[in-house]
Amino acid sequence: MKLLVINGPNLDLLGERQPEVYGRLTLKEINEKMAELAKELRCELEFFQSNHEGEIVETIGKAKGKFDFLIINPAAYTHTSVAIRDAIAATGIPTIEVHLSNIYGREEFRRKSLIVPVAVGQICGFGPDSYLLALRAAVGMKG
Ligand code: DQA
Repeated sequence: MKLLVINGPNLDLLGERQPEVYGRLTLKEINEKMAELAKELRCELEFFQSNHEGEIVETIGKAKGKFDFLIINPAAYTHTSVAIRDAIAATGIPTIEVHLSNIYGREEFRRKSLIVPVAVGQICGFGPDSYLLALRAAVGMKG
């Protein structure tokens, strides 16, 4: 089983970006934790991060036939991107949306995800564990 982990804008700044909200781990450290769990669960991971909506759309488009599952933190695009939602719907690859923070306990504009209606589900509020829980859930469904 092969999964693609996609991280959206500003997540390259994790570690230094609002640590009181997003914690102190860098994206590299979160990815290392995921890679460790993937070994244990015997699945293969690839990682992609971009600050550009179009690049994320293109990466999702190219994932068809190559990946069995997507795990995506669309970051701010969660709340705005019809294009990312349409790309996920178009590939038909089962997708889990993740967030470090609990988006339902924050500002009003973060409480709406345009992505979740086309995802299998959403995991938010558990910091880096949101990603690890998503990986376990994906493998539980497909593996
Ligand atoms: C986030 C939540 C989003 O609202 C925000 O724009 C982010 C990070 C999270 O992981 O908690 O950049 O996706």
